[in-house]
Amino acid sequence: MSRKNPIKTIELFAGVGGFHLGLNQCNSKEQEAYNVVWSNQWEPSTKRQHASEVYQERFPDTKHSNEDIAKVIEEGFAEIPNHDLLVGGFPCQDYSVARTLSKADGLQGKKGVLWWSIHDIILKKGKNAPSYLLLENVDRLLKSPAKQRGRDFAIMLSSLNDLGYIVEWRVINAAEFGMPQRRRRVYIMAYKKGTGIHKKIRKLKEPSSWLTGEGVMNKAFPMKLEKPINVPFVIEGDLADISENFIDYNPKKSPFNTVGVMIDNQVYSSKGLPDFDDSKALHTVKWKTLRDVLQDDSEVPEEFYLKGELDKWEYMKGAKKEERKTTAGFVYNYSEGSMVFPDALDKASRTIVTGEGGATASRFKHVVATNKGLRRLTPVELERLNMFPDGHSELATISNAKRAFFMGNALVVGIVEGLGKSLYESHSKL
Ligand SMILES: C[S@@+](CC[C@H](N)C(=O)[O-])C[C@H]1O[C@@H](n2cnc3c(N)ncnc32)[C@H](O)[C@@H]1O
Repeated sequence: MSRKNPIKTIELFAGVGGFHLGLNQCNSKEQEAYNVVWSNQWEPSTKRQHASEVYQERFPDTKHSNEDIAKVIEEGFAEIPNHDLLVGGFPCQDYSVARTLSKADGLQGKKGVLWWSIHDIILKKGKNAPSYLLLENVDRLLKSPAKQRGRDFAIMLSSLNDLGYIVEWRVINAAEFGMPQRRRRVYIMAYKKGTGIHKKIRKLKEPSSWLTGEGVMNKAFPMKLEKPINVPFVIEGDLADISENFIDYNPKKSPFNTVGVMIDNQVYSSKGLPDFDDSKALHTVKWKTLRDVLQDDSEVPEEFYLKGELDKWEYMKGAKKEERKTTAGFVYNYSEGSMVFPDALDKASRTIVTGEGGATASRFKHVVATNKGLRRLTPVELERLNMFPDGHSELATISNAKRAFFMGNALVVGIVEGLGKSLYESHSKL
């Protein structure tokens, strides 16, 4: 691959294109760092494909597939172009595998588990497998499932190790790096055998130094380690062994902390403490607080102001201790603490959730106090909390509630921008 060529990228589970936006922000007039050549997005729960409609409208130059990715892999694999980087935010599901009866088939993952789609693309690409991966997930992935803490992540790491990758990960809360939303997600990067980055990591005398020194993720989102890592944790056995036996000696605690790297089957991991300096940020630092992203009241349609029903909002947001009944008639005690109401404006906002849209009173929707009164956040404000451009998800045929849903599913673009710039720098140098 010539150093001057942009990194050819495919985007899976693309939603409305958060990865694409972040990677575009790594491009400049002088240098196109990334070119997203193919994308896939399919929403299983609805007939209409709203996210895909937005994606195609915003990124007309990228080939787009709106099919179940598992079906594409099975029936139309040739459609997926060779690429240098695969990116995607996929769900946290049960990754365990079982041994198949027939030895020839080997191992079988559960159907519909989307991690295996990523895995299958890499496997089927063979010698053309991508040099790099950049993935995003909820941080629960590091600890799931509840009965065998860390098993699913161990399966993911081990399967990537079998495919020839060194993998590093980092839990990043956007707000701790000068961005306007408290959104904690685990980002995972992998470097294939044969790449300069892979070679560099292998040459390190102290492998864990990658995590606090020259590491790709650390250069973008620097962290100190709470404790030095003296001894790596070893993931033993094949995927079926891990599925069955992973850490039977301590099922309650995952060995995967918020920062880590796996080289062969050796895992170096510790808790990361953010060490952020605005002036050195690779990502755009533009808005830091909820107040920063607010539109002027004159731009906000009436439908966003709370009309009556204030007592309902106060009840939903308030502390409560009460008896509740399940639909089956079972009575139980329910309690929860109070939420800040209205939301504090002088800090980064709480995480946007997919149910953020719509007028009904809710505990989790954001409510802000403005000169004109209490109101919910507009789609543009939600876009700004994810550092999307204003109006990115706006189409005449898409409702405001859908736009809120997209943002609840999406990511903070600045994180992809930071990681993308750091990866490109190492890729071009090494
Ligand atoms: C967490 S969201 C990713 C959002 C995206 N990063 C963004 O910035 O908008 C996961 C996406 O995967 C899509 N998805 C779920 N199952 C899929 C499947 N079988 N094939 C393709 N896409 C799927 C969902 O519709 C959803 O948009």
